[in-house]
Amino acid sequence: MLILGIESSCDETAAAVLRDGKCILSNVIGTQVAVHKKYGGVVPELASRHHLENIVPIVNAAFQEAEVAQEAIGGIAVTQGPGLVGSLLVGVNYAKALSFTLNVPLVAVNHLEGHIYSVPLELTRSEAQRGIPETDWCELFPALCLIVSGGHTSLYWVESLEHPTKFELVGRTRDDAAGEAFDKVAKLLHLGYPGGPVIDRLSKQGNPRAVDLPVSKISDGKLDFSFSGIKTAVLRYVQTHLQKEVDEMASRRSEQNFNDRLPQPVYDLIASFQRTAIEMLFDKASRAAELRHPRSILVSGGVACNGLLRDRFRQGFAKKNIPVHFPSPILSTDNAAMIAAAGYPKLMAGEHSGLSLNADVHLRLHV
Ligand code: KG4
Ligand code: ZN
Repeated sequence: MLILGIESSCDETAAAVLRDGKCILSNVIGTQVAVHKKYGGVVPELASRHHLENIVPIVNAAFQEAEVAQEAIGGIAVTQGPGLVGSLLVGVNYAKALSFTLNVPLVAVNHLEGHIYSVPLELTRSEAQRGIPETDWCELFPALCLIVSGGHTSLYWVESLEHPTKFELVGRTRDDAAGEAFDKVAKLLHLGYPGGPVIDRLSKQGNPRAVDLPVSKISDGKLDFSFSGIKTAVLRYVQTHLQKEVDEMASRRSEQNFNDRLPQPVYDLIASFQRTAIEMLFDKASRAAELRHPRSILVSGGVACNGLLRDRFRQGFAKKNIPVHFPSPILSTDNAAMIAAAGYPKLMAGEHSGLSLNADVHLRLHV
């Protein structure tokens, strides 16, 4: 069965066509980074306006790339939430209209569930490319799933992907998401938006142990995360030690190209921030693994693209004999292939959403 996925929860308009929920025939993503760059973050009103402009061409491109006629699909999966209301509404309403005109069932998907599905989806994709037999997705479970993006930092325990899947929330951020911390630190150092990829690249030139930044302590013993403290610590460090250098970087910002040499203490601060943030993620994931004994660790979301995170998780969990899986960057960040993959088993189970489906900004994954 062919399924169309539609994703518009934040600043990416995306559509994808999958065969049998596992084989990606197309995966088209229209990013709005250029629109939001000058504001240093996503501006919700601009995001929804651009989704409106992009949704039709992006969905058409997904059909074209898949070489599939619209009438050939057997169902549509769309992100219902969580996300920005104006952005979600564009995808949800377009999906409803398309399901009505094509007379195919529609199913609502939680964006976070999509991020979890992006990992097994990647596994199947890379195995097909290498011509090796497909891993049965069941073999990955029970799994600890870490979702780390600009809007979310959550750790879920997933016993199996059997429908209906139960997601148990093991830990979540109590304030900023990890990606948000990367973006805010990049903003205060005038490094541009989104901050994660720039920090990932520039940190290679710094000493990750040069600056001692505080690691947030969650005193009630829960496996929750907190990233606002480290962001404030970076701000204080700049104010005390690097204000002149950072002001100079700000004044050159318009002509700055990020290949310019920055002062060495700035590289050191960037590398130290990244190391500390990644260590906080690894520490909680590692403690959760000790308690729950998962068969694998699945990490996804934009921050899962981070080079240090990948090295740290691979090396740290290799010692515990637990395999770690990441999606490739194109499936780590927001995309619609993961939404189609998560929607497929629901459609197969006859779980359909009617035309009364509405966006849900705070949609929860766990029970
Ligand atoms: O999953 P995503 O595309 O959108 C959300 O659902 O938020 O994630 C975007 C986030 C941004 O905060 C961005 O700075 C971060 O992922 N990011 C990274 C890297 N690439 C993207 N953070 C750290 N290192 C990276 N290489
Ligand atoms: Zn996301």
